[in-house]
Amino acid sequence: MSTFKGLMISRNHAWIEIVNQLMEEMNMEITAVPEWKRSFQDNQHYHYVLVDLDGGVSPQQLQISSTTVLIGLSSEDDFEQARNWLVGGAKDVILFPEEKQRLLDLMKVTNQQLTFQKETEAGYGAGQVHAFYSAKGGSGKTLLATMAAQSFSIHQDLKVLVIDLNAQFGNMDVLFGAQPFRSYYDLIPVMDEMDMRHLLNISTVHEETQVTFISGPVDPTKAEAIPDELITRLIRVARYNYDVVILDLPSVINNLTFTGLNEANHIHYVLTPDSLGMRAFRNASELFNRFQIGRNEELSVIVNRVHSKSELNESHIKKIIDRDVNGLVRSDFFSIQADVNMGESFFKKKKDKGTNKVTKDMKKYVDEFVKRTKG
Ligand SMILES: Nc1ncnc2c1ncn2[C@@H]1O[C@H](COP(=O)(O)OP(=O)(O)OP(=O)(O)O)[C@@H](O)[C@H]1O
Ligand SMILES: [Mg+2]
Repeated sequence: MSTFKGLMISRNHAWIEIVNQLMEEMNMEITAVPEWKRSFQDNQHYHYVLVDLDGGVSPQQLQISSTTVLIGLSSEDDFEQARNWLVGGAKDVILFPEEKQRLLDLMKVTNQQLTFQKETEAGYGAGQVHAFYSAKGGSGKTLLATMAAQSFSIHQDLKVLVIDLNAQFGNMDVLFGAQPFRSYYDLIPVMDEMDMRHLLNISTVHEETQVTFISGPVDPTKAEAIPDELITRLIRVARYNYDVVILDLPSVINNLTFTGLNEANHIHYVLTPDSLGMRAFRNASELFNRFQIGRNEELSVIVNRVHSKSELNESHIKKIIDRDVNGLVRSDFFSIQADVNMGESFFKKKKDKGTNKVTKDMKKYVDEFVKRTKG
């Protein structure tokens, strides 16, 4: 039996009979009563209340909790009446019994939404969402996000998903040595009922590291067509099914970037040790403050491309940005480029500490991050 319960308010026995059959099809329980009483709501929670509008009640007479879905059933196509009920909080008004299929469809979709809501509220899907961000382009977000993902999977034994939110030219696929032909753009038609199966349909598993990844659309017109809601849902479904969800974000702040930053539990800011990098960080900090994202322990700073000839050293940087630095990743162009071009994984076995400065430093960063944020 479904976990959803309905209450039907009607004196029309023929209708009650039809609704009973429909609910049986849906595996749902429904209680029929001739009129509304306050005590119904107090005694138990109904997910649905179906009201026979021909019975002459008004929406104001029902005190229904905001978490109950109210649906009106009417034998007449009365525009004024329907409007009155919709304004009064009904989800829909169904011409009954002609449109009984529409009632079924509506309840199916709503059931899925209720399930989804219940799961998120119950704190299931407590997977951590990590966003890799920098207001300066080319600072190493994609490279470090990929290394972190592989380290979480290989060294920490966590189930990891990476989402490339650079709609267009994210390059994540290059680092995973794959050419996925699907992206989250393909989720648009199933946006309202998105679940793990849809997500698996569009994702690719990187064999060597067992990291799953999802790319963005390459076509810029498609990228523009992606609603924020899709990204929010994608991230929530992902959290429900993975221990770690890593978001590779573009530097430009668009609605996808913003949604990603908002959904993240932790932001890893990639900072380059130069004045441009500092300036970009200052701008990003202002933005974060304004929107209350990345507060206190929710933000880590990784200085990337550290080199003995860097314009600024660690102590300069701490002074300028007026906070601690959480990781230093050295520059190692030649060794990195070889791995990247070959689509090689950065770590293969748990024992691997990394074969070059960048992978070594990133492994260390992830190890320390896990320790720092545990318990
Ligand atoms: N520590 C490093 N040592 C050597 N090369 C690096 C290092 N970090 C990044 N790179 C190289 O710098 C280039 C840019 O890195 P990456 O694409 O990860 O940056 P990004 O911030 O994602 O860029 P974009 O803003 O375009 O998304 C890549 O070729 C990458 O391999
Ligand atoms: Mg990138």
